[in-house]
Amino acid sequence: MHLTFRQLTVFDAVARHLSYTRAAEELFLSQPAVSMQIKQLEESLGISLFEKLGKRIFLTEAGREFQVYGRTISQQLNEAEAVLEDLKGMRKGRLVVSVASTANYFATRLLAAFSRQHKDITVHLDVTNRASLLRQLEANETDLVIMGKPPEDMHLATESFMENPLVVIAPSDHVLARQKQIPLTRLQQETFVVRERGSGTRIAMERFFGEHGVTLTTGMEMTSNEAIKQAVEAGLGLGIVSIHTLELELETQRLVILDAQPFPILRHWYIVHRQGKRLSPVARAFMEYVLTEGKSLLPKV
Ligand code: PGA
Repeated sequence: MHLTFRQLTVFDAVARHLSYTRAAEELFLSQPAVSMQIKQLEESLGISLFEKLGKRIFLTEAGREFQVYGRTISQQLNEAEAVLEDLKGMRKGRLVVSVASTANYFATRLLAAFSRQHKDITVHLDVTNRASLLRQLEANETDLVIMGKPPEDMHLATESFMENPLVVIAPSDHVLARQKQIPLTRLQQETFVVRERGSGTRIAMERFFGEHGVTLTTGMEMTSNEAIKQAVEAGLGLGIVSIHTLELELETQRLVILDAQPFPILRHWYIVHRQGKRLSPVARAFMEYVLTEGKSLLPKV
């Protein structure tokens, strides 16, 4: 059976008006064009849909059955059209965002503010480390990623939107807590609790000390910033974390930022997607939002 949507529309009009002439007027077609569409439809269905009694036409039994299905199909098509229009206009839509574990401290705040403006969107947020974010971009599993400086050899579209200073943290009763201008050589005498391999913070930290010719003593390795902060607070060593992870601990003075020189390690946050990826309207709007509003929504530390 070869049906066209055009034939369905014409059939629906003729069936409602029981008149080729009025159907033709409604559809801005000629009367012979309408008759031709119905003839072709009946041929492809292999059964008559209308019968002519005197000057009037009526639906046959097959015509009445077909009218029910025709209406359902038209309704479904209208609905599909409305949903697509909504998507274009961004009233509905799904946003898939992946962020570096360190970025999660502000990314949820950004997503919450964005969702308040776009109530019908659904957000899928994945929080993971840098290595895993790069894998997701490679596999095209996510719309947008918020991460530290992306690699240059991966064909990514990247825009920086905010600074990300990495600082040295210590418990507030540490001997260095009140010392000014602590040199890197002094830090060599301390043990550091560090993030796992694959973490952007860890990579930046190792590069920084390497560039300054300083070797650090590393103690425990941990896969989250929360664990690092708790370990530092418990006296297991010093730590290096993004200042964006510290809002609460600084407020409650459970941790302090050491005045180590030449800190902070200055990184930046980037919003990233694969080059050439067709972003959905929601994803484009979120990217725009992060670039324009992102910074102002973040806590001042
Ligand atoms: P993370 O941070 O992978 O250490 O969580 C991201 C980054 O700074 O690149």
